[in-house]
Amino acid sequence: MRPSPPKHSAAKRPLKTLDRVLSKAGAGSRTEARAWIGAGRVAVNGRIIQTPDHWVDLQQDKVTLDGQPLRKAKPLYLLLYKPKGYLTTFKDPEGRPTVYNLLEDVPHVVPVGRLDLDTSGLLILTNDTQFAERIMNPDYKVAKTYLVKAAGVLTEEQLEQLRTGVELSDGITGPAIVKRVRNRDKSTFLEITITEGRNRQVRRMLEAVDSRVRKLVRTSIGAIGIGDLEIGKWRELTPQEVRGLLGR
Ligand code: URA
Repeated sequence: MRPSPPKHSAAKRPLKTLDRVLSKAGAGSRTEARAWIGAGRVAVNGRIIQTPDHWVDLQQDKVTLDGQPLRKAKPLYLLLYKPKGYLTTFKDPEGRPTVYNLLEDVPHVVPVGRLDLDTSGLLILTNDTQFAERIMNPDYKVAKTYLVKAAGVLTEEQLEQLRTGVELSDGITGPAIVKRVRNRDKSTFLEITITEGRNRQVRRMLEAVDSRVRKLVRTSIGAIGIGDLEIGKWRELTPQEVRGLLGR
């Protein structure tokens, strides 16, 4: 367990653990930061610190990596077209590919929400934690649209249930926009827009109406669509797109 912050944090000093300070500065992931600290490459106020949980006062303490002061990382906002079969976690104990394999030479960024292993489509990654928290906060109602291939030919009643809300283990879902794109063979293609981001939400919604997802692609986040982005590739979001997501 991590130690609690020292008592003077009660005076509202901005305290962070040393590993967090390094990863927030965009120097690397928390795991990398912990390795550098352990290797004696990080100093606080000129003294080598080898404990990643060391508390740092952001207003006063000077942190260096290999003797160089940390510079504030340039905020990065990336849009990746995640292929199916890639995890959105940093590392996988089973050695499966992760989205980080597609982001070589990119400073450390974290996914804004998750996509399941079997889901493809748009994923935003950033090193701006405030932005990420805001986009993931359901109060801000950022719309996420999915193209869904659902098992069976769904009735209008089933679609209406999806629209008004279905009971999941973590509560009733909020209103969703659900459009039938087409029926084909024994499947229904739907476009579903939700503003929540619960774990496996679309899959669980379909199960709640006695269907199941056969294929799932996230086609837009807010006003941002896939456009010309090729599967497995990424691009930076424009400042206008970032402002648009923040509702500005
Ligand atoms: N809903 C799901 O069920 N899975 C995803 O990956 C995204 C939304």
